[in-house]
Amino acid sequence: MSFRPRYTGLIERYRDFLPLSDDARIISLGEGDTPLIRLNNIPKELPAEVAIYVKYEGLNPTGSFKDRGMTMAITKTVAAGNHAVICASTGNTSASAAAYAARAGLIAFVIIPEGKIAQGKLAQAMMHGAVIIQIEGNFDDGMQIVKEVSSQAPVEIVNSINPFRLQGQKTAAFEIIEELGRAPDYHCLPLGNAGNISAYWMGYTQFYQEGIVTKRPKMCAYQASGAAPFLRGHPVINPETVATAIRIGNPQSWDLAWAAQRESGGWFDEFSDEEILAAQKLLAVKEGIFCEPASAISIAGALRDVKSGKIPAGSVITCTLTGHGLKDPDTAIKQSTGPVIKVKATLTEVKQAILANLENLK
Ligand code: F0G
Repeated sequence: MSFRPRYTGLIERYRDFLPLSDDARIISLGEGDTPLIRLNNIPKELPAEVAIYVKYEGLNPTGSFKDRGMTMAITKTVAAGNHAVICASTGNTSASAAAYAARAGLIAFVIIPEGKIAQGKLAQAMMHGAVIIQIEGNFDDGMQIVKEVSSQAPVEIVNSINPFRLQGQKTAAFEIIEELGRAPDYHCLPLGNAGNISAYWMGYTQFYQEGIVTKRPKMCAYQASGAAPFLRGHPVINPETVATAIRIGNPQSWDLAWAAQRESGGWFDEFSDEEILAAQKLLAVKEGIFCEPASAISIAGALRDVKSGKIPAGSVITCTLTGHGLKDPDTAIKQSTGPVIKVKATLTEVKQAILANLENLK
């Protein structure tokens, strides 16, 4: 066998495609290089034959795609000689900012909406020593404050309006192209603050312009019905959804996301909370892949669009699973229908429970 060099993160891997000076001190936790898993079971139940791959971004160091952007944003912050970063967040950005700031020896301030962030994400921000500021408001309120505060205090914004965030996140498109040996026909993903769709489009476009691929995918992005400004055509004042990661009414990368949709010939669509949770469950039960609710909307979207014929037979589809299911254990447990059987700790009772269930499965 041949030994593989130690993977040291996406900046080292894609340095030639990233705007960084050669002497930059790279802040990395080994992000990127996430698996592209082909779905085996779910596509069998579809009316048309398609190949669906999921880009499992939940396997990044802090459990979400944010790490791709954060390695760049924090590396740049260090290079600029700054000592503190700030972000507003529905949870994942705060977890990632907290971890990378810890790694770099910076202070992280994270502004989160009170009561509306998943437990795992809050635990991460706390554990990594971020200064957590809970506001009686939502992500959009937090975003507004962060923009104002960064012009008045020496803190670097590491939300996706920081251009280096998108530069890092575009590398997911590079990885997909490398693994498929081509660009997919359709790329499905959740749409919240709209940074990620913009980053993927940037990545696909860069490899297209470099002549590495001859086509780009149609970008198909999905929102929760209660938080769907792109479907309404204007900001939404009180966004609400069980998928708290995308509980956003006033997306910052509004124009970039519309450009990605228009230039790629893709589309936006929306799903109810019930549909989002059903897709999360389906993926977990049928494929053994656990993603958080917001991520599952990409699966809901791909399946609906294949069933309706919008995505034709023979297509190669990639879906980004933006965050790990363990981020939000409360929502998972609440909707779980799996039997938890309580019995005495005896062989007889356990055996009885097993046999009864095997009987039920027949
Ligand atoms: N999926 C997950 C798991 C997210 O955490 C986010 C955004 C999105 C999808 C949407 O991506 O904003 O680039 O369109 N989370 C941000 C945060 C807002 O604060 O963690 P987007």
